[in-house]
Amino acid sequence: MTKESDKVTPWKVSGDLDYEKLIKKFGIRELDENMLKEIEKFTGELHFMLRRKVFFASRDLKWLLDKYKKKEKFFLYTGCGPSGPLHLGHLQTWIFTKWLQDKFDVDLWFQFTDDEKFLFKDKSYEEIQKWTYENMLDVIALGFNPKKTHFLVDTKHANLMYPEAIKIAKKINFSTIKAVFGLTDQANIGQIFYTSMQAVPAILPSVLAKKNIPCLIPLGIDQDAHFRVSRDVMPKLGFYKPAIIHGVFLPPLQGINGKMSTSNEGSAILTTDSPKEVERKIKKYAFSGGGTTLEEHKKKGGNPDIDVSFQYLKMMFEPDDEKLKKIEQDYRSGKLSTGELKEYTIKKINAFLKQHQIKREKAKKKVKKFLKSTKFSFE
Ligand code: TRP
Repeated sequence: MTKESDKVTPWKVSGDLDYEKLIKKFGIRELDENMLKEIEKFTGELHFMLRRKVFFASRDLKWLLDKYKKKEKFFLYTGCGPSGPLHLGHLQTWIFTKWLQDKFDVDLWFQFTDDEKFLFKDKSYEEIQKWTYENMLDVIALGFNPKKTHFLVDTKHANLMYPEAIKIAKKINFSTIKAVFGLTDQANIGQIFYTSMQAVPAILPSVLAKKNIPCLIPLGIDQDAHFRVSRDVMPKLGFYKPAIIHGVFLPPLQGINGKMSTSNEGSAILTTDSPKEVERKIKKYAFSGGGTTLEEHKKKGGNPDIDVSFQYLKMMFEPDDEKLKKIEQDYRSGKLSTGELKEYTIKKINAFLKQHQIKREKAKKKVKKFLKSTKFSFE
């Protein structure tokens, strides 16, 4: 591993993001037109996040689809690290995951890594439990099918997970973990072990069913590291390697590089933000690709490629290709001003959040169901 690749690990993302470079470095496959056609054969249409390369790369996806064609259904697996309030970037992966669940009519195993966040953040165990619950509400609000969605909380389902985690851990050595994740000798020993916990849900349904079931993991590209390490282990334990589909990061408010993060107020829009708060953040922080003055903008036009508001529309909030194209053209030509683009983006985000927050309230009554279905499936 070169030093550069350490810039995109599960716990650190910095520097200019070059996704093409990451494809080569991580040895993953670009989601090219052929692969998109393969997906479309099964789904009948392509989610806009696929059309626009928000999900842009994969591992073993063709293999997974071939199995599906032969009536060997897969399950989906993704997760959430509960260390604070969630932001729009988190939801991006899960909105796409829900689409996959609906289109392929498959089960989803959803992991809450309370152990990870306790080990990696300077927060108490109790606080992490509070966020686990809060984050579950956001996940449920996205509308996952409760009959087919199984929540796993690492410390709560330790009885199920730990036997598999130690089998994985025994086949990974310390020097690999240090190299891949950039951990040093000062890392606490829980951190060194953690990757084996994140690997478990990729095989757990197979363990419970006592037969191999293919697995597809939608994730943000920074999470690939866990599976670069653990995928090699799976066949040694008699399981399939999980397939993966990789997403880009939703950019932070301040600029198109890096990823949205809750640690910095000028970076993230939270799922619980009020309409006023969203408006304030977009107006104050959202990096603009427009001209420095309105006059200059009208003359020379703006650059949507580096404009954060435009990127939010493209990646999440304007599914309509025609509308997006028009916004892009008008912004490039200068006909649409930064102020107008921001107003439109605020309106779109707030319309989404309004619904989300209503569903989030209703989710409070559903948490048990999602946890119970996990119990149910291992009876
Ligand atoms: N580690 C992830 C995070 O910090 C959470 C996670 C657990 C996850 N399992 C996953 C993400 C599988 C993607 C796929 O957010």
